[in-house]
Amino acid sequence: MNPIIMPAMPAHVNDQATVLRGLVSDKKGFGGLKDRMAGMKSISILSGKGGVGKSNVAVNLALALAESGLKVAILDADLGLANIDILFGVIPKFNLGHVLRGDKDLSEILFKVGERVSIIPGGAGLRELADLDDQRQSWIISRLSFLNDETDVLLLDTSAGIHKNVLAFAMSSDFSIIITTPEPTAIRDSYSVLKSLCQATDGNINIGLVVNMAVDEKEAFMVAERIISAGEQFLDFRIPYFGCIIWDSAIRESVKRRKPLLLGNAESISAPYFRKLAKTIFDPSCDPQASDKKGKLDTFLLRLARKIGDKEKR
Ligand SMILES: Nc1ncnc2c1ncn2[C@@H]1O[C@H](COP(=O)(O)OP(=O)(O)O)[C@@H](O)[C@H]1O
Ligand SMILES: [Mg+2]
Repeated sequence: MNPIIMPAMPAHVNDQATVLRGLVSDKKGFGGLKDRMAGMKSISILSGKGGVGKSNVAVNLALALAESGLKVAILDADLGLANIDILFGVIPKFNLGHVLRGDKDLSEILFKVGERVSIIPGGAGLRELADLDDQRQSWIISRLSFLNDETDVLLLDTSAGIHKNVLAFAMSSDFSIIITTPEPTAIRDSYSVLKSLCQATDGNINIGLVVNMAVDEKEAFMVAERIISAGEQFLDFRIPYFGCIIWDSAIRESVKRRKPLLLGNAESISAPYFRKLAKTIFDPSCDPQASDKKGKLDTFLLRLARKIGDKEKR
């Protein structure tokens, strides 16, 4: 039985609503969230299909978390289509590969894109990490650990699909979010990701579902229900629903203007959904080990390098 199997949907949603009301009524916004979080949390953002909004969710979720006082780093871990820099309208010169080759320190590649938000361009560096021998891997990773003091949340924007590296990211993170849209192709592909993850981990994975580009909350809920019930029926796994982001033309505009929605159009209709998502994913009921997990960057990267390395060897 998976530790994150939630109660029946309506009860879970009610529970979350209660927690959310508590959080919202707290003037500080996150109800002492920072105190509740032990160490940095790493969160992988996954999808089956491309173009469902992973990068935009990563960017705006990071900004929503930062608005609440958390320090966030986004690791641009989409090995094929890294584009977090474009969404922020910045041009970082260096990536993790430069750190691995000893040309730069992490402090030099960490690119500040807003108050409390930085990006780490992954580039080919993430693949190179897996190729290093154990000793060198540990040494490099220990050089990265200064991030632990500077970061509360590490978000990983990954590639679409069930590539072995994506599974490695998900399995190395404290928890993951699968994003789908209401399109049948995206729904089917998100189920495939869930299935692969359940099979790879024997159901021992902390994961939640987000529906993006929904016309309204009702449509999003119906989409979520389809995936949740398929998971229950065929995988014996109930994925919690973390909520939705509704369709908003201002998100497309923000991409064109290279200024994230929460920086350029913070009052737009989809903006509250990112803030709500930021609260929901740290609802303790979504992360049962939240209080005793210490998700440090060095251990996260070590887990990741080993996972990628294991898979490459197969
Ligand atoms: N909620 C939304 N409403 C409208 N358009 C969206 C929304 N979320 C993302 N988009 C648009 O969808 C496209 C793909 O988004 P992106 O974040 O790049 O997806 P991915 O990283 O999954 O490939 C972008 O053009 C973006 O503007
Ligand atoms: Mg992307």
